Amino acid sequence: AEIKKIAVVAGDGIGPEVVAEAIKVMRKTEELFGLQFEFEHGLFGGIAIDERGTPLPQDTLDMCKGSDAVLLGAVGGPKWDNNPKELRPETGLLGIRKALGLFSNIRPAVVFDCLKDASTLKPEVLEGTDLIVIRELTGGIYFGEKFRREGAHGQEAIDTCVYNVAEIERIVRQGFEVAQKRSKRLASVDKANVLETSRLWRETVNRIAPEYPDVELEHVLVDNCAMQLLRRPSSFDVIVTENMFGDILSDEAAMLTGSIGMLSSASLGEGSFGLYEPVHGSAPDIAGQGIANPIATILSVALMYRLTFGYEEAATAIETAVKNVLDAGHRTGDIAVDKSKAIGTTAMGDLIVAAIKR
Ligand code: NAD
Ligand code: IPM
Ligand code: MN
Repeated sequence: AEIKKIAVVAGDGIGPEVVAEAIKVMRKTEELFGLQFEFEHGLFGGIAIDERGTPLPQDTLDMCKGSDAVLLGAVGGPKWDNNPKELRPETGLLGIRKALGLFSNIRPAVVFDCLKDASTLKPEVLEGTDLIVIRELTGGIYFGEKFRREGAHGQEAIDTCVYNVAEIERIVRQGFEVAQKRSKRLASVDKANVLETSRLWRETVNRIAPEYPDVELEHVLVDNCAMQLLRRPSSFDVIVTENMFGDILSDEAAMLTGSIGMLSSASLGEGSFGLYEPVHGSAPDIAGQGIANPIATILSVALMYRLTFGYEEAATAIETAVKNVLDAGHRTGDIAVDKSKAIGTTAMGDLIVAAIKR
């Protein structure tokens, strides 16, 4: 196959640890499926602040723009938490998403049968859960104007939430289209009983819904959705929602699968270019110990193969390898019931690499 350029921005904390395992997996599929990748690494996040004085150096962004797909680890850590906005790792993450036009964040939460006992929820509640959260990624309160001012009672802080119709429409259409390819059920999540942006969201959903008559649509208020996700997770198919609601609901959905260390994601724009990253963060509490679960990042590679490159066979091979390794009883600490038998990051990566078959 044609050589694909992969921009790697591993970031901070466990980012580099899990990304290394994902690259091993990609190398294995090169041999097996005749694929070819060229990896370029760029400084990003806290480490870029330390070495270059900015979380998203221009050369890193240029490298991403010149690539066919981006593989991202995670950014952030206590060292940079009190920095001013432009010197925070998270600002670099929002910047890369915005600069690359990645407005659609796809976060699948699939419960592996053998992991039902790894979740804090009852196994019978989890049975058959296979949902996707589609999170709007470049708008809303994350990107609205923010400022401080002196008020009558001292300092005030203001975050504004803005959405225009075009931004809502493109992400909602994505929701309908993904639902059409799955079980044809779409839950649109908002807070239309309170927020003006949510009222515009719901109006927009209702206006375009007739174009997708085969999709069964439900509107769910975000607080109720947070509850229903734990009460009846398997009844959800595709959930489409705005930026911050999607951030919160996807971490909640992660616990259905047993751990946030299982949740992969794809961030897409108009074309097939995409950025692939685990949903979890840099996990400062376990960084450097070699115990992080690499599966979220490895499953993100499967999403990359499917959504950016159309390497369906290799994507499925990765997912099957993960399933087989889990079925054989191998667990990192976050998904182990018996923590004394847990294996580390590289051991899990090695097992998955060995399990990939053509
Ligand atoms: P986190 O996702 O990093 O960690 C939450 C908990 O989950 C921790 O106990 C952690 O040990 C555990 N965990 C996360 N990933 C794991 C894995 N692969 N294997 C095993 N356990 C795992 O969230 P947090 O603690 O709220 O945030 C830590 C830092 O990460 C913050 O600076 C935050 O801003 C940043 N963050 C970055 C991203 C990203 O880069 N995409 C996402 C979320 C948070
Ligand atoms: C995520 C993270 C980021 C977000 C933070 C680190 C800015 O939580 O990717 O889910 O809120 O989008
Ligand atoms: Mn998050």
